[in-house]
Parts: sequence; C-alpha cells; structure tokens
Amino acid sequence: MDTPINVAIVGMGQAGLKHLLAFKKIKNVQIVGVADSDKNILKEIKAKHGFNTFSSYKELLDLELDILVIATPHRYLHQIGKDAAALGINILIEKPIALNLSDAVKLVNYCNDKKVKMGVSFVHRYRKEVLKTKEWISKKRLGKLLLTHTTMIFPQRDPLPKWLNSPEDSGGGIIMYGAIHSLDMLCWLINDVCVSVTAECGSNSYKDKVENFSSCIFKFSKGTCSTMAVSTNVAVTKGHTWKTNFIFQNGMITLFIKKYTKYVSYGKEIHYKSPINGDINYNFTDQARDYVDHIIKNIKPSIDGNDAINSMKIVDAIYESSRTSSSINIK
Ligand SMILES: NC(=O)c1ccc[n+]([C@@H]2O[C@H](COP(=O)([O-])OP(=O)(O)OC[C@H]3O[C@@H](n4cnc5c(N)ncnc54)[C@H](O)[C@@H]3O)[C@@H](O)[C@H]2O)c1
Repeated sequence: MDTPINVAIVGMGQAGLKHLLAFKKIKNVQIVGVADSDKNILKEIKAKHGFNTFSSYKELLDLELDILVIATPHRYLHQIGKDAAALGINILIEKPIALNLSDAVKLVNYCNDKKVKMGVSFVHRYRKEVLKTKEWISKKRLGKLLLTHTTMIFPQRDPLPKWLNSPEDSGGGIIMYGAIHSLDMLCWLINDVCVSVTAECGSNSYKDKVENFSSCIFKFSKGTCSTMAVSTNVAVTKGHTWKTNFIFQNGMITLFIKKYTKYVSYGKEIHYKSPINGDINYNFTDQARDYVDHIIKNIKPSIDGNDAINSMKIVDAIYESSRTSSSINIK
C-alpha cells in the first residue's frame, strides 16, 4: 500500500468544514488533526467525526504533516502559512492568503525559498459550468473578447463571518472575501492580466467598517474592458447571484455560477446546466484531489501563489482607486 498523505486543517468554520469533508473523501489521505481556537467547535467535530482536535495550530505542526490546510480569518493566514513552510510543510491556503499585497508577496517568496508547494483555494474554478466556460473560451471561436460584466449579489439572509467587519482581522470587506474569487476566475478564464483599475467602494450601513459594495472598471492587456458590481446585504430572498457576461465579436457566453453557462453565436445556442449531484461541495472535493495529486507527483499545484498575488494586485488597486478617486495602473 502507498504511504498515506498526512493532512491537518486549521480553522474549522464555513470553509474549514468543507475542506475537512473534501479531504475525507480522498484516497490515501489520512486526516491526522484539526485545530480551531473555539473549543465548542472542536467538541462538535470530535463528537461527529472523531478526529484528533487541538486548540492551537502549533500542535498540528508536530504531526509529521505533508499538507496543512489553512482556513482561518485573514489576519492569521500569513503567519500560520509561514510557520508551516518553515518546517517544509506544503500548504493549501484560503484566499486572500494575507491581509494585504505586501504580506502575500512575502509569503509566496518564503514558500518558494523553502521549496514548499502553496496551493490557493480559488475553489470555484473547479465548478463544472466554469470548466465548460473555460473550454468554450479556449477554443477561440467567438473572435476577440471585447467586454465582460460581472454581478455579484449576496442576499441579506446569508451571514458573513463577524470578523470580516473588523479591518484588523479581514483587511477589507466583500472585495477580499467574495469578489476576489471573481477577479481570479476572470483572469484565468480569459487568460489575460489586468493592467488598470478604476473603482469605487462604499458601505450602505453605519455598522459596517469595511466596504459592502463596490463598482469597478478593469482594463486587460489584450484590450478587453471589464466591469464588476458587487454588493452584500441585498434584500433578495434566494441564494446569491454571481453572473458574468463575456461579450465577443461573434457572440456571447453567460456564466451563472451554480446554475448554468450559455453559449450564443449567430443561430447557435448551447445551454450547459450546472450538475446537481450528491455532493454540493464537489468543487472542494475536486480541488483537494487535484492538490494531493500534485503533491504526490511533486509538481507545481494547479492554482498557486502567483494566482494569489495576481488577484491581490487587483484588490489592492481597487482599494487605492477608491481611496484616491483615480485610475490605478497595475505593474
Ligand atoms: N474558498 C471559499 O469558497 C471560501 C468560502 C468561505 C470562506 N473562505 C475563506 O476561508 C477563510 C475562513 O473564512 P470562514 O468564512 O470559514 O470563517 P469562519 O469564521 O466561518 O471560520 C474561521 C474559523 O477559524 C477559527 N479561528 C479563528 N482564529 C483562529 C486561530 N488563530 N487559530 C485557529 N483557528 C482560528 C474560528 O474559531 C472559526 O471556526 C477566510 O480566508 C475566507 O476568506 C473561503
């Protein structure tokens, strides 16, 4: 039998639990421990799954880990990642990987120095409708990509974690927590880099200390112009809306996450429905399998530190543009 891959997870909230259930399904993976600063969460996990639980991630680092999955509030991502990398432990780390661009760059460089493989959890890239969209765009049958427009709406009833409203813990609001996925996905889908950003961020509630809406214009190196509107706390009853229109010279693709992707060109129309299968977090499972596979083969993960830096450069430019009321060029 192959030697098992030892995995531990720190931060057992919304994201950490999904990682736990995902890694549990991967052949040849042994979950050797989970950590969280909240003892009640640990008690629940122990009772439900029987894993070894720890109140500090430092105890996980003694468990001969091959992989540490890091899913804590943004404030702790960088330090935990650095401590693991110092011991040569590979990390699958949640976005945005640090509180700001400068710390993100430091962490990526440190992992490279230590020859540690950093995987970054831009997990929506693994959705089937997203992969279908990538396939259509890659075929280049629609001519030049002129415009894209993304709308991201989070309904009132979906609770965002409380720490997000503390700038010291989060580094920012809905851009850092939600829209960063969209920025990463856009760059990856259209295979281009963002060169300039004009943005406005704001908050529609006196209680919010970080932005809860934003409107942005992006220019890409191959000439595509993109817009994005994002808002939380919208008085709609059903799940969140995350939709992008890709407008080409010869047609259009509409990607509606968790629902469908649609291709239209002249008289041709293809509708691809997002699959509903038994595993609603199948994208986490596919991400875990893919990351473990790359660790076993000793090759660069599919989504790595460069992707994290790329998206953080855009996030940084959005905040600077909003602060200074000017367009920001990205180097
Ligand atoms: N990839 C995705 O789809 C996705 C979805 C949601 C959140 N996230 C990311 O996952 C991370 C966590 O977000 P969340 O929504 O799960 O938050 P959460 O509040 O639901 O979970 C965070 C957990 O970390 C624990 N924690 C806090 N400080 C800790 C510390 N120092 N050591 C150990 N545990 C600690 C908390 O007790 C909590 O259980 C963030 O980086 C967030 O951006 C990613």
